Amino acid sequence: MITKTHLIYFSPTKTTKKIVEQIAAGLGSLDSEHHDLTRMDAGLDMQFVDGLAIIGIPVYAGRVPEIFLNRIQNLSAAGIPAVLVALYGNREFEDALVELRDVVTSKGFTVIAAGAFVGEHSYSTGKQPIAANRPDVADLQNAKEYGTAIAKQLNENIGAFPPEIPGGVPYKERAPLGGIAPETNRELCTLCATCAKVCPAFVIRVDRDVITEADNCIMCCACVKYCPEKAREMKHPVVEARREMLVKNCSKRKEPEYFL
Ligand SMILES: Cc1cc2nc3c(=O)[nH]c(=O)nc-3n(C[C@H](O)[C@H](O)[C@H](O)COP(=O)(O)O)c2cc1C
Repeated sequence: MITKTHLIYFSPTKTTKKIVEQIAAGLGSLDSEHHDLTRMDAGLDMQFVDGLAIIGIPVYAGRVPEIFLNRIQNLSAAGIPAVLVALYGNREFEDALVELRDVVTSKGFTVIAAGAFVGEHSYSTGKQPIAANRPDVADLQNAKEYGTAIAKQLNENIGAFPPEIPGGVPYKERAPLGGIAPETNRELCTLCATCAKVCPAFVIRVDRDVITEADNCIMCCACVKYCPEKAREMKHPVVEARREMLVKNCSKRKEPEYFL
């Protein structure tokens, strides 16, 4: 019986969070504690000494987002088991899971299982959907059943630790971010500042105008997805081209994969 589960995640548009929560539900833990790093500017300064951790990240360019790595710098664990989640937008997860395995192992967790799940792509729009509305009911059910399978494995003391996880070392080169950010349509914007309140990189300031510090934008599109007036748009030509490529090549539904 798992008594305590720590849900540790970075999830600007909340698809990773949904999967992590479903796995926790399937595990049947009596006590779940959320450690949401999305808006935790200073990071998490904590040592995990008991229970089990579910650690979730969105895949950015086939890697673990750099901002997540910064936020777990002061986090450590005393050998407790960890379940890993890489949430990707129906393209590929490439080296993200092996990188996550390596980083959490270096922090003192014992990786017992890992999964790659699909969520709506950050660049998805109504007109150009990419994995729109995922995780859907079937994805959530899969995540829950995966949690139950992990609990069974733990109770029966079976499984090889750490599990075989696909991906390469050295990891693929990190794609540079910076300089590209969503724009605000001032005809629709009411200056409500929702964009600033949801931005995980704290790069949006709303006063008499909306000012976005593009150099430090991580392109997560939380401001676009949560703007109540649909006034934020990611329409930089680099992203437009990427979106077109994704719609053309990555529209065939992919299913979650588990490594136990
Ligand atoms: C900068 C950036 C890079 C991304 N790179 C990938 C990728 O390499 N492969 C992929 O399938 N999805 C990629 N995505 C899509 C995200 O992994 C996906 O939208 C995820 O659901 C976001 O998680 P969240 O809802 O927890 O924020 C990328 C998204 C962003 C913003």
